[in-house]
Amino acid sequence: MGIFTGFEKIVRPDEPMAMHTWFQLGGPAEYFAEPGDLDELVALVRRGTEEGLPMRVLGRGSNILVRDEGVSGLVIFLSAPVFRNISIDGHMLSAGGGARLGRVVTTAVHAGLAGIEELVAIPGTFGGAVHGNAGTHGGDIGQWVASATVLTHAGEIVQREREDMVFGYRKSSLDELVIVSATLELEEEDPRELAKRLQKHWIIRKANQPLGHQSAGCIFKNPVGVGAGAGELIDDAGLKGTRVGGAVVSDHHANFIVAEQNCTSQDVLALIEQVRTQVAERMEVELEQEIEIW
Ligand code: EPU
Repeated sequence: MGIFTGFEKIVRPDEPMAMHTWFQLGGPAEYFAEPGDLDELVALVRRGTEEGLPMRVLGRGSNILVRDEGVSGLVIFLSAPVFRNISIDGHMLSAGGGARLGRVVTTAVHAGLAGIEELVAIPGTFGGAVHGNAGTHGGDIGQWVASATVLTHAGEIVQREREDMVFGYRKSSLDELVIVSATLELEEEDPRELAKRLQKHWIIRKANQPLGHQSAGCIFKNPVGVGAGAGELIDDAGLKGTRVGGAVVSDHHANFIVAEQNCTSQDVLALIEQVRTQVAERMEVELEQEIEIW
């Protein structure tokens, strides 16, 4: 494995990405690495940079579509315990980028820390949620982020404070290679009240979205200044149930595409294009993709 000589224990070639994504679609990653600690991660990234390899960090694959051809370069997966720690100090919660967002949310609620309980049913990692400023109609995670530790493509660890970070709708200025960890500043509240709110949001999400299916959450961003969300627009355009191969616009929530048997990434891509074109024609709105295509 020439370029990753010395990293044989943590890097493997041709890793099938379908098993790492919610869509369960797509080809292999040329190289796939699970570093065991921060030093290994830094050394790995430096090697990747020296070799001029494209590099990406995989969260839990809940907001990406991997093309059938696969991903060239290196995909890094923060599965080691050191990247998944969650700790609390007063009303500050710190977590590793690889921690599951759901675990971060329930840890906060059990500790009586309010702010992120509405994010309960959002899949993915904490790092992915901060990177993409995950949120609901009740608010986004970015408003609670006090600081973050990131790793650049050059392999430098940088600390970002609140004033250095900008969070917008489903985006943040944290576009370095890796969000190693971040700290949230939350508000103290009665854990029983919080648990009730968490449960309520869980029920609403389950009722409104096809959570048990192969999908990647919302495909498009909600357009600004239109007065209707992407789901409503796709629904009003009459596109629920539209199919390309094994990819279908969900009947449950029109901004979700569900992958059925024998679906390929190409089916999903073609359906995304079809939905975009039809919404532009019928509703006169240009939809912008929310999921990342790898
Ligand atoms: N609606 C329809 N038809 C549909 C879907 C929705 O008419 O097929 C209507 C609903 O009836 C409601 C409105 O559209 O009046 C809004 O729907 P919903 O409450 O489901 O919220 P959304 O704007 O579609 C956003 C986020 C979701 C997040 C929910 C819950 C985006 C693109 N989507 O959806 O995030 O879970 O709010 O707060 O911002 C994601 O980012 O992957 C995602 C799923």
